[in-house]
Amino acid sequence: MTTRINRRRLLQGLGLGALATRGYAKQQSAPAYFTHNVASGDPLSDRVILWTRVIPQHRDTTLNVRWQVAQDRAFTRVVAAGESKSVAERDYIVKVDATGLAPGMSYFYRFSSLGVTSETGRTKTLPVGQVPSFRMGVASCSNYPQGFFNAYRHMADTDLDVVLHLGDYIYEYPEAGYANDYARNVLKRNVVPEHETIALEDYRMRYGLYRTDPDLQAVHQRHPFICVWDDHELANNTWQDGAENHNNGEGDFYQRMRAARQAYDEWMPIRTHASGDQGPIYRRFAVGNLADLIMLDTRLEGRDRGFEYGKDMVYLPQINADEPRKPDLQAFRTNLQDPSRTLLGAKQERWLSDSVAQSTSRGATWQVLGQQVLMGNVGIPTISESALAESGMSEQRKKYAAFMQALGTQGLPLNLDAWDGYPACRERIAQMLADTKANTVALAGDTHNAWAFDLSDSKQRPIGVEVGTPGISSPGMENYLPVPAEELAQALKDASPGLVDVDTSRRGWSEITLTPQDMRNQWHFVSTVLDRRFDVQSSPEMVCLVGERRFS
Ligand SMILES: [Fe+2]
Repeated sequence: MTTRINRRRLLQGLGLGALATRGYAKQQSAPAYFTHNVASGDPLSDRVILWTRVIPQHRDTTLNVRWQVAQDRAFTRVVAAGESKSVAERDYIVKVDATGLAPGMSYFYRFSSLGVTSETGRTKTLPVGQVPSFRMGVASCSNYPQGFFNAYRHMADTDLDVVLHLGDYIYEYPEAGYANDYARNVLKRNVVPEHETIALEDYRMRYGLYRTDPDLQAVHQRHPFICVWDDHELANNTWQDGAENHNNGEGDFYQRMRAARQAYDEWMPIRTHASGDQGPIYRRFAVGNLADLIMLDTRLEGRDRGFEYGKDMVYLPQINADEPRKPDLQAFRTNLQDPSRTLLGAKQERWLSDSVAQSTSRGATWQVLGQQVLMGNVGIPTISESALAESGMSEQRKKYAAFMQALGTQGLPLNLDAWDGYPACRERIAQMLADTKANTVALAGDTHNAWAFDLSDSKQRPIGVEVGTPGISSPGMENYLPVPAEELAQALKDASPGLVDVDTSRRGWSEITLTPQDMRNQWHFVSTVLDRRFDVQSSPEMVCLVGERRFS
């Protein structure tokens, strides 16, 4: 489904990789040292968060850090400036909310301390009033030990108003926990700390490692980000009271989440909630009269535990979930559809409804839901026996595929970790979107593959479109179900009525353009994550006209 654009880039070398990930450079001679470039985020029409990290020559020193925002790269027209501090308690991170800016404007910014100046970043405020066009880059699932962040490099080189990062910005796994052997052994994309991130220092160190990546630095330096976490900034398949990748030996779950949340707040250019770094991250951004960006937390804020087919074929919370049981599809289906189960929590569900109602009543054209997991229904694909036989999959993997295909004949969904695992909650949201006549554009990450859906409620009322963005570097379905991509795509479409297009095998990002007339999506796929030389293959544009609530 893609056309090839020969845009070849020869990329620069590793750059900052040799520098300490977050600790002191022992040979440091400068009085202040900017360790991780600059970043900006959460733009509003008059302000934006500016971020850097600067360490003093002597560990116990508090640095005064000056920041400036200017209209020009030479900083001859400074429009805002101020002072902040770099302190050890906040991991030497400096975050300021630069106010007094003009709407829809590009700015340059930088920091300085003791005569040392940071790199210069570019950022942009959100527009007000009539907005002819607004262009967003959408990213997710950047896994350092799986390969290079070539997709970030391409985003850095593209003219965008903002980057939405929908989570899995880091991964919490230990060395070799979720890694590509070539990337680790040949490209030396090894993680620190070597163990799984559990304590505050672990999460800080992991962010510090990721942010030495020159492509990630480039995209932060070039564009403002609006971020939400998915599970891996916390622990795999997190829900409000636990995670698949958390056990008792790893200590108290809530303490771990506090650490993960603090490190996220420190390292990401996100505006800290009024209640502090443990506050909710769901929030809203107005893009003039054109759109509201409604950013959700489908992971931690109020999410009930997700089901797993093996473990929860019969779901009886009062019984040890590990006890082997015979499958009982009817009981499973009933439990899956329990209306009390929620992906958002009651408070966030209300906030979402209020946000959509306010957006439509103020006349904003588009209601964009920036969130983590796929909203569209994904059925279980039926793969031909010949394709499975030729796949090279292990016998155990083939058996699991057969088990899943048997579930598929029962109309059950492929992924219980997405909105498909919370069907009653999804239906409540779908009806609300239909009732308010929103022009919904749902954006999702998480799967590492590219998806496009026409969304509808159970009454078949169209509610809008969804784009699932491909991962930056994490492996996708080609890794788990190595059958011909075209056959898999067709089988997924056959099993999923709203699925308009899917790419099951490539990494990249999504470019979403909103205008008063239409919304357009274009995927940009990178040819490799295992070489810094790469091509970009861009899909044809997919268009949703305003009022249509489906792709044309
Ligand atoms: Fe991911």
